[in-house]
Amino acid sequence: MATEKSHVLLAVCGGIAAYKACEVLRGLQKAGCEVRVTMTADAERFVGATTFEALSGAPVATSLYEYPGSAIPHIELAEWADAAVVVPATANVMAKMACGIADDCLTTTLLACACPVLVAPGMNAHMWQNPATQANAATLRGRGVSFVGPDSGRLACGDVGEGKLAGVDEIVAAALALLGPRDLEGLRLLVNAGPTHEAIDPVRYIANRSTGKMGYAIAAAAVRRGAGVTLVSGPTSLGTPAGVRRIDVESAAQMHDAMLTAFDDADVAICSAAVADYTPAAPADHKLKKSREHLDAIELTETADILADLCAAKGPRVVVGFAAETDDLLAYAREKLERKGADLIVANDVSRPESTFGADTNRVALVSAEGVEQLETMPLPAVADAILDAVLQRVVR
Ligand code: CTP
Repeated sequence: MATEKSHVLLAVCGGIAAYKACEVLRGLQKAGCEVRVTMTADAERFVGATTFEALSGAPVATSLYEYPGSAIPHIELAEWADAAVVVPATANVMAKMACGIADDCLTTTLLACACPVLVAPGMNAHMWQNPATQANAATLRGRGVSFVGPDSGRLACGDVGEGKLAGVDEIVAAALALLGPRDLEGLRLLVNAGPTHEAIDPVRYIANRSTGKMGYAIAAAAVRRGAGVTLVSGPTSLGTPAGVRRIDVESAAQMHDAMLTAFDDADVAICSAAVADYTPAAPADHKLKKSREHLDAIELTETADILADLCAAKGPRVVVGFAAETDDLLAYAREKLERKGADLIVANDVSRPESTFGADTNRVALVSAEGVEQLETMPLPAVADAILDAVLQRVVR
């Protein structure tokens, strides 16, 4: 149940399911939330602003220039909101969100929101399945935006397929989950994520298949729960989750420096990055020409172990490592726990499709001195929350 003070911004887009947004508004109010509404011009063709005004008891923001009592409604509303819910999210508005386009009151307000955002898509099945829409949804998920639905069923256009707005109760529950406890308030969390690139020459490098999604999900979840988060990221294609301080690095050596420095101001470190274990000892400063001789001559040297060095410096602070394995998962994870001196190792089997590189789900085991907790396959945000729950149990406040 949300507290009385929870503020939810309802962003209503132009789809036939816009009328369902009225019920979502009521559901949120019943759960104790205060709701304000912004809507697109197209949404007003389906449901009048007057309806939302009467239901919410507040003016509805339809224009950046005419909002009673405020000259800058998009900033005022974005700062007011503890969570924003887009119902129904059209393909067009999702595309604008993914690109950062702000060409009306609703999209400008969403762009200004640093709070958690929930998207409830509702559209024709072909529009939802279109690769452009799917790519936009993936981009938004990668930035920590939550999704509820769409469901499958009979659509307003008569088609049967995926694209139906999720049920009202489901949307309300997902929105309330975003307002969940800020139980990490005051905690300073340091996370690393992604692969590292180890230069062979100015053109070539040694890397691995990590996408960084797990670490980014942890950073996003920690911010949502009130932590101050610094994310040291290897090269990824992911957007920075709202509210996260991100430091970009390329090599294992740069990541080592950034992590050890940032650890001075952290209470917890979570090492999810797939750091290269070896790096070319003497990267060439010019492009090497194709020759067997060069290939044979790439000498590798071991990188510094960031996790082990953080553990050596940690004192009472909590340090978490990851073990990505293809066999003997738990045995290797226990070995890493001991060898590196970590409080917890998150072990995942990267040979399984649900927990491999780039998946939107993960199936992990939490391995600590107390034992092993095997978790189910879950979407990355839920895995992130479970890891943070385990961290919280170990933090000495
Ligand atoms: N790690 C690190 N610094 C390195 C290498 C790894 O901090 N130079 C961290 C990773 O971020 C992860 C954990 O150590 O948290 C993974 O352990 P590691 O022993 O490196 O696993 P692998 O690279 O898979 O090595 P091995 O082949 O020994 O299992």
